[in-house]
Amino acid sequence: MRCRAAIFEAEGKPLVIDEIEVDPPREKECLVKLEATGLCHTDLYTMSGADPSANWPAILGHEGAGVVVETGPGVESLTTGDRVVPLFVPECRACVPCRSGETNLCDALDRYYEAGLMSDGTTRLHYPDGRDIKHYMNTSTFAEYTVAHEWALAKIPDGIPTERACLFGCGIPTGIGAALWSAQVRPGSTCAVFGCGPIGLNIVQGCRLAGAGRIIAVDLRADRLATARTFGATDAIDATEHDGNAVAAVKALCDPAWGGADFTFEATGRTQVMRQALEAARYGGGTCVLAGVAGKGETLNVLPKLLIGGRRLIGTAFGGCRGRTQVPELLERYRKGEVLVDELVTEEVTLDRINECFERMRADDGLRFVVRY
Ligand SMILES: NC(=O)c1ccc[n+]([C@@H]2O[C@H](COP(=O)([O-])OP(=O)(O)OC[C@H]3O[C@@H](n4cnc5c(N)ncnc54)[C@H](O)[C@@H]3O)[C@@H](O)[C@H]2O)c1
Ligand SMILES: [Zn+2]
Ligand SMILES: [Zn+2]
Repeated sequence: MRCRAAIFEAEGKPLVIDEIEVDPPREKECLVKLEATGLCHTDLYTMSGADPSANWPAILGHEGAGVVVETGPGVESLTTGDRVVPLFVPECRACVPCRSGETNLCDALDRYYEAGLMSDGTTRLHYPDGRDIKHYMNTSTFAEYTVAHEWALAKIPDGIPTERACLFGCGIPTGIGAALWSAQVRPGSTCAVFGCGPIGLNIVQGCRLAGAGRIIAVDLRADRLATARTFGATDAIDATEHDGNAVAAVKALCDPAWGGADFTFEATGRTQVMRQALEAARYGGGTCVLAGVAGKGETLNVLPKLLIGGRRLIGTAFGGCRGRTQVPELLERYRKGEVLVDELVTEEVTLDRINECFERMRADDGLRFVVRY
């Protein structure tokens, strides 16, 4: 199958828009005709050279949605015509992590994940002259067609457009899930979210869905704080008014008996903000959830007394979301109007404009760009 794609050929360089060849699906794989893909900071991170596990040439992209057009031998859960979201965290329902009920981090397709290959150690993606192109995160959505394992595909319920469903491939479950599944925010609790980019905004709406009583949004930008209010924030703190450290301002809004928030979240990728989020969690049971991805080699400096005082520090990957089960559930909540999505889309573009959109993301312009094929 010949199709157009944006090919990652070198770190720090724009993606190359050209034709690639996509092989038919093999055992338990599906060929997916993509209709839309979102662009995420993680793609940008891989393109930048900071990602130690980057492979190239490769087809990046992990926030797509499309239609199954061919199934390989042994595919049981999907059929031609099914609309799907590729998952960078699969859900096989049989491996030890899946059966444990304690984590969403299925390891069934791990073996060749970092190598950028399918689970049999080969690639379905090639240049027209036959040279191999690597996969990325099991998803490779920056192409008109991709091949994915059936365990890495979530079904889209009827009636939900793919140009919105694609955002359920990363940003929406990561943020909402951080509140609902990783932190398990309790009704009535006080939450503080440090960083209100696409991930933080979805954490804010996850806190709202969990029934939090107070949701304090923190960012350096007034426009993002205004959007955070739309997503459910009850209070907004501009950290530029506090020298970039809003800990005292957050604490001032919390129950003085506790002197901190029940749940705090970090969604900036900056280690000094991770520490601030931990400090803003209350002693005696406050939970701090890290969602941001720190730079290569960066470490977090934590005072042990914060943890001895009963705070819990946890992380979240894909929001603790079990993709094949819970992405369709979140899509249903979008259909019911409970989950805001349209407000996250800055612009819909064609594939030729993908590099321009990454430039804008690098300059912190916009929330989510969506490529429509
Ligand atoms: N854990 C996961 O599974 C997962 C998945 C996707 C993305 N991420 C990571 O989540 C992080 C956030 O992603 P994003 O796309 O929302 O990023 P973004 O850069 O769009 O948003 C970060 C926000 O943090 C704000 N900020 C910066 N310094 C601050 C400070 N001192 N106080 C308060 N706010 C501050 C910025 O103004 C910005 O609005 C990134 O590190 C990304 O790599 C994690
Ligand atoms: Zn992402
Ligand atoms: Zn599994």
